[in-house]
Amino acid sequence: MVKPKQPNLSVKIGNLDLKNPVMVASGTFGYAQEFEDFIDLRKLGAIVTKTITVKARQGNLPPRTCETPAGMLNSIGLENPGIDRFIREKLPFLKKLGIPVIVSIAAEETPDEFAILVKRLDRIPEVSAIELNISCPNLQKNKLISQDAADTLELVSAARKLTEKCLITKLSPNVASITEIALAAQSAGADALALVNTLGGMSIDVHKRIPKLGNWVGGLSGPAIRPVAVKMVWEAYNKIQIPIIGMGGIMDTESALEFFIAGAAAVSVGTANFINPQTSLEIIAGLQQYMLEHNMQNLSQLTGRLKACQD
Ligand SMILES: Cc1cc2nc3c(=O)[nH]c(=O)nc-3n(C[C@H](O)[C@H](O)[C@H](O)COP(=O)(O)O)c2cc1C
Repeated sequence: MVKPKQPNLSVKIGNLDLKNPVMVASGTFGYAQEFEDFIDLRKLGAIVTKTITVKARQGNLPPRTCETPAGMLNSIGLENPGIDRFIREKLPFLKKLGIPVIVSIAAEETPDEFAILVKRLDRIPEVSAIELNISCPNLQKNKLISQDAADTLELVSAARKLTEKCLITKLSPNVASITEIALAAQSAGADALALVNTLGGMSIDVHKRIPKLGNWVGGLSGPAIRPVAVKMVWEAYNKIQIPIIGMGGIMDTESALEFFIAGAAAVSVGTANFINPQTSLEIIAGLQQYMLEHNMQNLSQLTGRLKACQD
């Protein structure tokens, strides 16, 4: 009997070649070393680091996380060692893994900080791609860059001029029109979009009458936001040409498939890493199985293949 041909899971995101389309989402996997005892890191499609800023940040007051129905709230506040220590202490481990490393970056005060970070990372060959986190909800700002199309256009255009590395722009779901922002990022030269960051949320301890988070408000993640995220991926997919990395409540193969069918070229696993660090690898295996069962040889036969009606 002829053995069925294994589907090809590889995908191209800008100039970045991934052997499979499953990565781990920024902030939910540290700098990978934290997870080395729990998962074979080399099997991942890519690793997205915790967001880095120019200077080290201590982050927000505790408690920084709490459970919510079908999800969690966090207000970590971008705790990170800063770019210098990241390069010195975290990157050497990541370099050794031999899989693409996507470094997530953000500014604390002014957008110029993005330029400083992009210039530094551009010089490091082992940095495969840069993810512009213009959507972190935990910085006590009135408005996020990704809540304004003009700001998004300006920021991404400035970063684009500084690097030829694959540039991913991570957007917020806390907007009236995701397509407006997605189009701005695309016309500024982003190679791909990461959709979505956390949804703004708040939870209250009614017995003490205090907010459950030290920062009062935070970002909601997990299965609770999945339908919102899937809709945004689908909306953006129908308007833009660059690849989308979908995320928001992916817990297993079936939830990952929702994102691919809605239009994602790749997916990121976030909150699920805290429950089962093997989730991403299980999804890679599940995806392969699904494609085999549905006679698909490559991911282009899956991405965006939503049907108009039941048949
Ligand atoms: C504890 C925690 C920390 C996070 N930190 C970051 C971060 O530093 N940078 C970022 O772009 N997104 C961050 N995120 C957002 C995730 O990368 C992801 O976009 C979001 O959680 C939705 O995916 P999920 O529902 O699978 O977790 C964080 C999420 C969580 C739960």
